[in-house]
Amino acid sequence: MARRNKLMKFSELISFPNVYQNFDPKKPKIVGVDLVEVDLKGKWASNHFKNGNPIVLELACGRGEYSLGLSEMFPNKNFIGLDIKGARIWKGASIALNSKLSNVAFLRTKIEQVNLFFEKDEVDEIWITFPDPFLKDSKENRRLTSPAFLERYKQILKPGGTINLKTDSPELYQFTQEVLANSADVEILYDKDDIYKDALDYPELELKTYYEKMHLLDNRLIKFMKFRFI
Ligand SMILES: C[S@@+](CC[C@H](N)C(=O)[O-])C[C@H]1O[C@@H](n2cnc3c(N)ncnc32)[C@H](O)[C@@H]1O
Repeated sequence: MARRNKLMKFSELISFPNVYQNFDPKKPKIVGVDLVEVDLKGKWASNHFKNGNPIVLELACGRGEYSLGLSEMFPNKNFIGLDIKGARIWKGASIALNSKLSNVAFLRTKIEQVNLFFEKDEVDEIWITFPDPFLKDSKENRRLTSPAFLERYKQILKPGGTINLKTDSPELYQFTQEVLANSADVEILYDKDDIYKDALDYPELELKTYYEKMHLLDNRLIKFMKFRFI
């Protein structure tokens, strides 16, 4: 039944006006409703959202709780959740449609491909919410705050655009601190290893994702870093 549900979700995704998908990482092509190919690179605000508002990406969005929550907090910004898992995106996209949140969209792709679908300086802000920590050293390059990923983000972020990382993983947190310390062109704006110890410094941190809720039940400490390229 679970498999059938997944297949049903995949076929429904094709009818969602707020979902775009890339099915072949070797081909820089995304499709929207009815699998019609679209070119949104550099045109997300004008052609999808039909406005000139800032673009915020949520990477590894899963069910997109941050994109959904932030879209209500900031109706004058556009939010795009990226993840490779269609069934998770289906959940976030369904909520956005049912709640008539027109400033949220989803892109199903590998984050390694992000530069294929966003133009230089197109993005104002990035959130990375509870990414897989890839604990084995051999998988270090897959961590979403590894130097190769940061270089991708740098290309699409506007000058001064911020990157926000929320994680429960001490290993990923320490790894990120080390990567940033070794980056000559990064300014760390905020760094806290236990955000719920005191009153929250940013109201956005009140939002909790599916994984964050599980980690909190497990008494794990939630860490947050905000930084930008200079
Ligand atoms: C631990 S889950 C977190 C999901 C969500 N942010 C949350 O907190 O509930 C990590 C997510 O990253 C996605 N992911 C991991 N590596 C990815 C990649 N290279 N490209 C796209 N998505 C990726 C997975 O599909 C998964 O949904």
